Amino acid sequence: MTWFVTGASSGLGLEMVRLLVARGEAVCASGRRGVDDLPANFPDIPYRRCDLSDRVAVASLADWVTRQGPLHAAVLNAGAGYFRPLAQETPDAMARVLAINLDANIALAHRLHPVLSGGRLGLIGSVAHNGAAGMPVYAASKAALGGFGRALAEEWRGRVTVRVLHPGPVATGMAERAGRTPDFADRLFLPPRQTAAALLDALDAPRGADRQTVSFLRVGLHRLRKGAA
Ligand SMILES: NC(=O)c1ccc[n+]([C@@H]2O[C@H](COP(=O)([O-])OP(=O)(O)OC[C@H]3O[C@@H](n4cnc5c(N)ncnc54)[C@H](OP(=O)(O)O)[C@@H]3O)[C@@H](O)[C@H]2O)c1
Repeated sequence: MTWFVTGASSGLGLEMVRLLVARGEAVCASGRRGVDDLPANFPDIPYRRCDLSDRVAVASLADWVTRQGPLHAAVLNAGAGYFRPLAQETPDAMARVLAINLDANIALAHRLHPVLSGGRLGLIGSVAHNGAAGMPVYAASKAALGGFGRALAEEWRGRVTVRVLHPGPVATGMAERAGRTPDFADRLFLPPRQTAAALLDALDAPRGADRQTVSFLRVGLHRLRKGAA
């Protein structure tokens, strides 16, 4: 049975696919960038380029994933946002963030439902859903994703396990790419590889809450349990 990971070309998604391949799992993945631009340490797995803000491309990505066969799990991890006040947003940028972080994930869950039967759906939210100054549109997209996931967990219970996982800030460089100036707080950012491992465990554990926060404590406990370096 196959795992499918979006946003696999960078950060948490890249770490997740590397961990899964190291475990011997079958994995297929997608990212916005093309194959030629993937990092050198990207594993040799089926990969599909897809801009998740493009509704037609998302449908065609879902068809491609469906052809990979039944899924053990889909980890809808891709995400984007801008670190700036609402007054500095543009209509296009706001629509794009909602399309990538919310609409694409709803569309993928909708289309992948048949191949997810008996499997797991992981939605990667963010603690920003609690309300984070500087990223109101991103926060709104993650809060809505959380609501979607919790509703779907109820609706699909007994058929597909749905979990919404909300990481704290992670040192993937996403915050800087979003426009945030690094400061002393960056030293408290979670390590990407260990956070990816904790996210995979949170999704795959036989028992667990529909909604989970993946914080420093959680990642630390996970490292202790696994004896990870
Ligand atoms: N880093 C944090 O502090 C943090 C905290 C909480 C939650 N999260 C969430 O965790 C997830 C992974 O974040 P990360 O830190 O690993 O960020 P990242 O390193 O910036 O990776 C984001 C991934 O999403 C993909 N992506 C972005 N826009 C896309 C688009 N339009 N179409 C398709 N793919 C797109 C990127 O593809 P390309 O690289 O190919 O463009 C990349 O693979 C996101 O959902 C993020 O919101 C992150």
